[in-house]
Amino acid sequence: MHLNRNDEDILAGELGAVKQKAMEILVALGDIYGAERLVPIESAQIAGVSYKTIGDAGLEYLTDLTGSVTVPTMLNPMGMDRYKWRQMGIDELFVEKQLAIIRKYEMLGIDAQCTCTPYYVNAPRKGSHLSWSESSAVSYANSVLGARTNREGGPSALAAALVGKTPEYGYHLDKNRVPDITIKTDFPLQGADFGALGYVVGKIVHSRVPQFSFVTQPNDDELKALGAGMAATGAVALYYSERRAKPSETLELSRSDLDIYSSSEPDAVVLGCPHCSRSELTEIARLLDGHTVKRPLWICTSRFVADRCRSLITRIEETGANVICDTCMIVSPAFEKRRLMVNSGKALEYGPSLCNSHTVMGTTADCINIACNA
Ligand code: F3S
Repeated sequence: MHLNRNDEDILAGELGAVKQKAMEILVALGDIYGAERLVPIESAQIAGVSYKTIGDAGLEYLTDLTGSVTVPTMLNPMGMDRYKWRQMGIDELFVEKQLAIIRKYEMLGIDAQCTCTPYYVNAPRKGSHLSWSESSAVSYANSVLGARTNREGGPSALAAALVGKTPEYGYHLDKNRVPDITIKTDFPLQGADFGALGYVVGKIVHSRVPQFSFVTQPNDDELKALGAGMAATGAVALYYSERRAKPSETLELSRSDLDIYSSSEPDAVVLGCPHCSRSELTEIARLLDGHTVKRPLWICTSRFVADRCRSLITRIEETGANVICDTCMIVSPAFEKRRLMVNSGKALEYGPSLCNSHTVMGTTADCINIACNA
């Protein structure tokens, strides 16, 4: 891989041992994937934040790091809401460790917004290169916003944030951004249906680049749900919601292929995977109006969005529901070994494997109905 003079200096350790290590990671990745050069990135987003996920080993790794990131950098959700952790039933030792992790990241100059929707805080420009980690955010950046990022691991995203560059391979290159299968859905879809579609299609197309043919064009929330589902079940990092090319393969789905909704008697209903937008909070508030929540109902969003939707959140919480920030049902220990109902294809996939929770999926209206009619 070609390195310019400045890259070489970093690699030689002239800007310190931490940046040198970061450059070594980027060069190793570039060599493995055949990158020709490093490209400057506009922003980074780092996964590996919850103490549940990275544990003491992760905290120790962060303790050794010094210096500062060189591009705007945010974090993935952590294991708790930084203010409502008691309400979530998180124990004090976990809180102590979790806050220590956040402090370490902050000392590196990272904005401790812990969200899988960093694009609501700071939307990347079309065509810009990024180094983002969280799979649904990667999908949204590539597919909806037209930015370019691979799905980075936590350490490689952090290395890119410290150096301000990433190796140019994978989805940074035009040649890898061409759709190679068309998915046809000749029936109407709305809301959570797109998460269900993502869940189903991800399992079929695994790591390919699908383009969709829809009866009606999905809105941004629906595209977010679609991408999150495919990212979870099929590691799909890029898709097109309309025709871009003429791939040789076409797959036609029928309504019954998406028949993954079910109902049960959950211990808790959890919405907001990925973190809710203002319009999703508005819809939840509308569905809850005039009802009282009788079964725990948790709604995950980013602190950035919550701070801008105070009256909506008051309306939601007056019904007995809880809106939580900084965290989610998958990375928090609060939702382990439970029976969960979700409206997300991604949470449906990860609930059993990462939370050891029996998980079922319904539409947003179904979920609220179950929460209000225990
Ligand atoms: Fe976000 Fe957690 Fe879902 S990180 S995409 S809410 S699994």
